[in-house]
Amino acid sequence: MPLWKCQVCGLVYEGPEPPDKCPKCGAPRDKFNQLTQQEEELVKRSRYTNYLHMKAYTLLKELLGVAEEGIKDNLDPGCLKIFSEEREFALVTMQKIMAELETHMKKGKWN
Ligand SMILES: [Fe+2]
Repeated sequence: MPLWKCQVCGLVYEGPEPPDKCPKCGAPRDKFNQLTQQEEELVKRSRYTNYLHMKAYTLLKELLGVAEEGIKDNLDPGCLKIFSEEREFALVTMQKIMAELETHMKKGKWN
């Protein structure tokens, strides 16, 4: 199915024809350009990577919660050390993911 990009807001629409008006910004049909095969590949490729980043982010957020529970539980210094390291890893990696996604958006790899 071809992809069409709204030149006003950047929305990418999938369908045999462009929509009558942009579902996001309301721009008319003639504001949509069909993406080339190469552009289409780029969009699909970056969507997949962004999906993986978001999935990892969700898992890290869960890890963060577990680590914080473990810190509160505070059985002994050994456990506290592991949970603190998990917490630090989750926080830093979540920040890295957000920075990477921001870079993708600036490069137009978000669509
Ligand atoms: Fe639009």
